[in-house]
Amino acid sequence: PIKKRVDSLLKLMTLKEKIGQLNQYSGRELTGPASNRKNNLLNDIRSGMVGSMLNVKGVKDTREIQAAALQSRLKIPLLFSLDVIHGYKTVFPVPLAEAASWDMEAIGQSAHIAAKEAAASGIHWTFAPMVDIARDPRWGRIMEGAGEDTYLGSAIAKARVLGFQGKKLGATDAVMACVKHFAAYGAAVAGRDYNPVDMSEQMLHEVYLPPFKAALDAGAATFMNSFNTLNGVPATASSYLQRDILKGAWKYSGFVVSDWGSIREMVPWGYAQNLSEAAQYAILAGSDMDMESEAYKKELEKLVLAGKVNSVLIDDAVRRILTKKFELGLFDDPYKFSDFQREERVMQDKSHAAIARSVARSSVVLLKNELNTLPLKTGIKKIALIGPLATAKTDLASTWTVYADTLSMTSVYEGLKEKYSPVAELTYAKGCNLNDQDTTGFKSAVELAGKADVVVMVLGEAGDMTGEAKSRTDLSLPGRQEALFRAVKATGKKIVVVLMAGRPLIFNSIAQQADAIVYAFWLGAEAGHAVADVLSGDYNPSGKLPVTFPRSVGQIPLFYNYLNTGRPISKEGDIHYRSAYMDSPNSPRYAFGYGLSYTSFDYSNLKMSTDFLKKGQDLTVSFTLKNTGEYTGEEVVQLYIQDKVASIVRPVKELKGFEKINLKPGERKIVKFVLPASQLAFYKPGAGWVTEAGAFKLMIGSASDQIRLEQTFNLN
Ligand code: IFM
Repeated sequence: PIKKRVDSLLKLMTLKEKIGQLNQYSGRELTGPASNRKNNLLNDIRSGMVGSMLNVKGVKDTREIQAAALQSRLKIPLLFSLDVIHGYKTVFPVPLAEAASWDMEAIGQSAHIAAKEAAASGIHWTFAPMVDIARDPRWGRIMEGAGEDTYLGSAIAKARVLGFQGKKLGATDAVMACVKHFAAYGAAVAGRDYNPVDMSEQMLHEVYLPPFKAALDAGAATFMNSFNTLNGVPATASSYLQRDILKGAWKYSGFVVSDWGSIREMVPWGYAQNLSEAAQYAILAGSDMDMESEAYKKELEKLVLAGKVNSVLIDDAVRRILTKKFELGLFDDPYKFSDFQREERVMQDKSHAAIARSVARSSVVLLKNELNTLPLKTGIKKIALIGPLATAKTDLASTWTVYADTLSMTSVYEGLKEKYSPVAELTYAKGCNLNDQDTTGFKSAVELAGKADVVVMVLGEAGDMTGEAKSRTDLSLPGRQEALFRAVKATGKKIVVVLMAGRPLIFNSIAQQADAIVYAFWLGAEAGHAVADVLSGDYNPSGKLPVTFPRSVGQIPLFYNYLNTGRPISKEGDIHYRSAYMDSPNSPRYAFGYGLSYTSFDYSNLKMSTDFLKKGQDLTVSFTLKNTGEYTGEEVVQLYIQDKVASIVRPVKELKGFEKINLKPGERKIVKFVLPASQLAFYKPGAGWVTEAGAFKLMIGSASDQIRLEQTFNLN
């Protein structure tokens, strides 16, 4: 019936009204450069010239603006969209942090709460998840994705889409997902935002596209294209991406929205002469909705009348958009998501904070723990808390938070105070600012440290140093923070460093000299509680890095699934005519998949169902995992493969399975993986996905650089 309703509505629409449906405007808040729009927004809406709004939120505002749309001739309701990236009112960890949990249930739950709150606030559609693979921590948007790996990224893409959308579009506790940015935006040259992308077809299909496909298979309602060019063609103008792959091979039936101004940006790219050409290229390539370029609104009618754009393309784009409006139920009740009572009830739901705390603590990664410095349990009477982020609140929300009540966020200071008082005294000194050269605070910090049993330092980037247009060339801690660490270290006290950032930072003296290091990323509203839970041992850390941490910027891009080269090193330092650096090891500071626990795990007894796997079959793999330590804990076990010889050189390792397993001290479990032979395929230009017979190495590890068990098998 929806198809019929769309068709009959389409018959009533003028060309102008159709084009109006393809036009999206931003409300008051800007999430891109301001356009010089002079026209009156409400007038445009009343005359049917707008199909969707972004950056309008709240029942009051959405009702008011929807009412204007209902005054238009055909009363077609607006779609309200927003960047609900890591929580709406309740701020959850940034996506990169959540990815470190490797916990699909937690990630799905976080997306669900975000959707529930946003949907209660008049929002129909979130611009998330961002599923761009990112191998370059200079790129500020690395914090919005799931890190560097395709397999993990695909699993997370699915969890997020299901979390946002629920079972069926139209439920009032769910929103439409928008998978972005199609495609390859994460590979911007030199990690500089909006830069071009040059990439082989094989890399595109193997590394960058699978998370998009996984999101689509999970039912993602919409897609957003991207700012970058791909091999010389702006993604917004790419028929290859949007028509051949997405709407063609993948049979996607939803609509594609452009990124902010990405249609008009074809002009400065030097791809289109003017806005008219840009509009023409975008619609021909399959970009259905124009976000903030006003290119469709100003140019499409003329292009159709001049015969440069076939009206069939316009009808197709309108049909895709109207279908979503019908599926959401907006034609039956345009105010369905804008109910004052529901908004009040959902925003006050106290259970959301508890879920945010649990997701936050499972996102923390323990990087170092010399001599079991952590947890801080017995015999501690005085804790010196030092550092510019120790009392931070606003920073904890980082960027892409649209509603965050920063006053209700818990700082580490507050979290530790709640946890330890009155048993241990908590003293505090800032030590230095986040990002200047002032060292006058060092003295009092050092004095405070001298009087304490243990020092906790909270250091990192400022919350707004990651996100869109936040690329950096220097990934060390800004300002004098590392010097502050060294000054405090000179007291000889035990130092626990909590690092906060939206990307992997480089912190060599801390890595070498701190007694314990906890990587907290940006954990959101419950950050202080989550960090206190981890430091006290009330929660045993279980996160694993979803991205490689380099030793220096010079190593970037650095990722675990690299190709071996013809001259691989046999060990670090072996640089004589080898693929190596004269001044640095090849290895990262911390590898993909790495993270410690307060307990230890033993891996044994690897078994495979066969040594000779046939195409079309599954390989069943099992091994025993035992908790050999004193704490209950969770381990993320990781399955990697290596295709030893192939007609296209294969990576040294590729993640093909993982599971997060909870064990009590002394408890053991037989862990099983099923590896379909199809997972051994790779993309061969001209041929597509192929599997080749030959030998494979199977590896089970606790990190990509900590392989505990391995065997070989053959594919026939
Ligand atoms: O959704 C975002 C996108 O990721 C970057 N440009 C702006 C859009 C809307 O805010």
